[in-house]
Amino acid sequence: MDELKAVEQDRDSRIDKVALRKSLGERLIGHRLLYFLSLPSTNRHVRELAEDGWPEGTVVMAEEQTAGRGRTGRTWHSPPGVGLYFSFLLKPQMPIEKIPLLTLMTAVGVARGLRDCGYAAEIKWPNDLLLGGRKAAGILAETRLRPSSPPEVVVGVGVNVNQGEAHFPPDLRARAGSLKLATGRAADRTAVLSSILQELNAEYETFRATGEGALIDAVLGLCPMARGATVTVTLGRETISGQTSGLGPTGALRVATPSGVREVHAGEAHLGGGTDAPRG
Ligand code: BTN
Repeated sequence: MDELKAVEQDRDSRIDKVALRKSLGERLIGHRLLYFLSLPSTNRHVRELAEDGWPEGTVVMAEEQTAGRGRTGRTWHSPPGVGLYFSFLLKPQMPIEKIPLLTLMTAVGVARGLRDCGYAAEIKWPNDLLLGGRKAAGILAETRLRPSSPPEVVVGVGVNVNQGEAHFPPDLRARAGSLKLATGRAADRTAVLSSILQELNAEYETFRATGEGALIDAVLGLCPMARGATVTVTLGRETISGQTSGLGPTGALRVATPSGVREVHAGEAHLGGGTDAPRG
């Protein structure tokens, strides 16, 4: 392929910002939409914008991230042109104990957005989206509390869209998935992002209008591991195993263990009863 063709192909594979903006109309999440070819981390950039007073609903996306961050200090591999890497800013008027629900709200929005595009995505409580049992997307929500103003929550989403196995580091290959790996077909990243942002808007609107009840029901419908599954959860240095029995009002996972029901607010949950379940 000559150099010009390679450049054109690269340009074609970029997000179509104009189409994306048009598809979102005046919806809250995405009414301010910033697009970058490369950023260290979209979460970091939105945090900086929040400090400069940018409004709720601001979205930042990048074609690649050079220092993409995952949960618990991990790296989120973000090669150019194959994934979706974006973050949005929320300033919710809600008590602090309900903020974890925003991660679940995002998980529902991403799952529904993917389902609208034909992918059978499931939620792995609380931060991951699975396709065929492999992790195809992750969520990183970071909150800054401010005196006498609503908290500022930066929610970052990474979706593996057109990654092949070679895009993932060797230690992740067995567990990492992508839309392309699930179907054998490349996906239109603009259409997938548009669908996810539309569903995120719908979820946030419903959540603000009706509270957590409908959200918890939506999560339970998309998260088979939350009801009747045998799981192992790592909580810092402690590991518990038991059967899941739904979610509490702030989104905590209920796990029936031999010593009683535990409400798990955060942690790594894995299907299976052993203490040697894989991490990540
Ligand atoms: C995880 O599963 O560990 C969470 C991954 C979150 C990755 C996204 S990509 C866009 C945003 N910017 C970041 O640096 N991280 C999040």
